[in-house]
Amino acid sequence: SFLVPSVQEIVRNDSQSVPERYIQEQKDRPLISENLLASLEIPVIDFSLLAKGDEDEIQKLDLACKEWGFFQIINHGVREEVLNKMKASVAAFFELPLEEKNKYAKAANEIQGYGQNFVVSEDQKLDWSDMIYLITVPPENRNFKFWPLTLPGFKETVEAYSSEVQKVAEEMYGNLSLLMGIDRDGLKKLQGELKQGIRMNYYPVCSRPDLVLGISSHSDGSLFTLLLQDDDITGLQIKHKETWIGVKPIPNSLVVNIGDATEILSNGKYKSIEHRACTNEKKPRMSVATFVFPDDEVEIGPLESMMNGSYLPRLYRNIKYVDYIRQKFRRKMEGKAHTDFV
Ligand code: SIN
Ligand code: FE2
Repeated sequence: SFLVPSVQEIVRNDSQSVPERYIQEQKDRPLISENLLASLEIPVIDFSLLAKGDEDEIQKLDLACKEWGFFQIINHGVREEVLNKMKASVAAFFELPLEEKNKYAKAANEIQGYGQNFVVSEDQKLDWSDMIYLITVPPENRNFKFWPLTLPGFKETVEAYSSEVQKVAEEMYGNLSLLMGIDRDGLKKLQGELKQGIRMNYYPVCSRPDLVLGISSHSDGSLFTLLLQDDDITGLQIKHKETWIGVKPIPNSLVVNIGDATEILSNGKYKSIEHRACTNEKKPRMSVATFVFPDDEVEIGPLESMMNGSYLPRLYRNIKYVDYIRQKFRRKMEGKAHTDFV
């Protein structure tokens, strides 16, 4: 991997210019006016109804996964206090001096730690963001050398957020099982316990948000991802039926998106949608992406219940999760596909 500077430092040193390597090719640049399409709203699912087994809400979830691949969830059970503390902890981390953040720097061949989103070649366009990625579940996989343990409350907050959001993930896992024609605990029986990693993103202000991307277009490799974002800034954009639309945050909600692993399990019924993050000139934006994924050794492939002889032929080969992720990276290096790293 290649070392690139902290974008936060670039802006601190010179808030007006945008270095060449961050300027996207014309076709990839976000039109600011596209943000107007934020008026087209993604589905909203009431999670408390799913937990009660509400049939209408489960049908809404089915439609959201099928037609959108993205939706917001309300009444999800993660306490507001925990959401607020999580946002404050992320802000506090990025406010640390660079030397301090660098103590948790991601090393080459490591995925955890502080740094930049995947940089795989010297001439690739760079994202206008910094991030820190931590493996959080199972707890014995936490590697505290990457955790800013001297930052008051950070560890406690991330642990509380991780465990509350994992309950939401479990509920989602159960509902996806039902929707794919197996028992509520069917996916867990097939694939075992869910793993979790949390990526905290920081998008500094940019004097030319029309030229850069906070995170360039990709799909997530995960089973699904739960995103916590600032209440007052629209930064996330999703590609819905060939058009980029902005996702306007609902306060205290989480955004959920279907990842590649679920697209494969569902034999293509549920879609892992391309998305990206845009920047703005007024206010830095932060987001927290919680990736939920199976163990590396789990073989993922279309569920029997999602194939039906010649009526629903198999669309994906079976592949070990870890091999799928490796292949996704390799393709990104060859410039073939847009990827995320889990
Ligand atoms: C991501 O795709 O992981 C981040 C999206 C966002 O910050 O809104
Ligand atoms: Fe993503």
